[in-house]
Amino acid sequence: MTAVGTTAPLLAAYRGEPVTRHPVWFMRQAGRSLPEYRRLREGTAMLDACLTPELAAEITVQPVRRHDVDAAIFFSDIVIPLRLAGVDVDIVPGVGPVLGSPVRTAADVDRLPHLDPAALAPVREGVAAAVSLLGGVPLIGFAGAPFTLASYLVEGRPNRELPATSALLATDPATWHRLLAWVADLTAAFLRAQADAGAQALQLFDSWVGRLSPEAYATAVQPHSAAVFAAVADLGLPRVHFGTATRQLLPAMLAAGADVVGVASDIGLDEASALLGNRVPLQGNLDPALLSADWASLEAATRDILRRGEAAPGHVFNLGHGVPPDTDPSVLTRLVELVHSIPTRQVD
Ligand code: CP3
Repeated sequence: MTAVGTTAPLLAAYRGEPVTRHPVWFMRQAGRSLPEYRRLREGTAMLDACLTPELAAEITVQPVRRHDVDAAIFFSDIVIPLRLAGVDVDIVPGVGPVLGSPVRTAADVDRLPHLDPAALAPVREGVAAAVSLLGGVPLIGFAGAPFTLASYLVEGRPNRELPATSALLATDPATWHRLLAWVADLTAAFLRAQADAGAQALQLFDSWVGRLSPEAYATAVQPHSAAVFAAVADLGLPRVHFGTATRQLLPAMLAAGADVVGVASDIGLDEASALLGNRVPLQGNLDPALLSADWASLEAATRDILRRGEAAPGHVFNLGHGVPPDTDPSVLTRLVELVHSIPTRQVD
């Protein structure tokens, strides 16, 4: 791992300051695409792996060692705080998060447990262990945003159409708001635990919020995401806000209290930057499907993204969403080398 100076390129770019090289990391970089991960995980259930501090720390560091990325993201999952609060949730291989019983009524929301802050100990220990292994490479802490996390609670299992979520939001706004307020508190506690243990930036994933109109987002979601950002504002860490298909929501997601906006592949970074007044650092946004394209296409797309990213005061190269499971890890390593080899606009 490369030693870093006082300001790691990731943190400089998140603050809109000059960088010595283009920082790059990949959403879902730890995990399924790495053979060393699959070996370590053998025989351990996903959520157990997340809650075993030494194991989570080792998995967190694997992509940094292999790819020389500019950040680690803590190996965990958005449903971990639910599990720690006592919600009956598991991750079913090949499916994703599955609830024992979905949360759909006012009575279901009444029954949601209270998180005992002591339950976050495995998260704190895992982050601290990862930070000490990372030797100065920044660790990003993360959480699921209220909408996306609530959508898993309401649906009960992954369903991109979110039918039960849309129904609850439309038919019982009072219950919806109580549910999102409960999730916001939980998410803030999860983020704070990671920051207390040494995470140097925080990313809030609202992966599925892009299906909402700006009007629905403003009333049903934004106040709760804003509560999460406000609850961690005192930490002074860069706060990144990411979702997919969010072209129509970017200004509102910024206004929720983000410092950096994560952009999916549905919009060019130059256009995204213009929508935000060209004053906000951006992260993104290579289409993950291109990781299995020929190298010439991948290189051209990468150069184009870095050029468009110059419209923003800072840019962290990333994918538009997570690394696909079947990605050849050597392509990621080569991509990091390419991004690092392209000159930055500022002189060192
Ligand atoms: O992918 C995203 O949209 C980011 C936000 C998000 C995470 N988990 C963060 C994460 C979401 C929406 C989830 C839910 C989830 N959890 C899914 C998606 C289900 C769906 O609706 O399609 C799945 C498959 C899981 C279970 C899960 N999470 C596994 C099996 C793993 C480990 C191995 C792997 O497949 O990569 C995770 C890890 C995970 N989820 C990380 C994060 C930030 C840590 C790894 C990393 O980012 O490097």
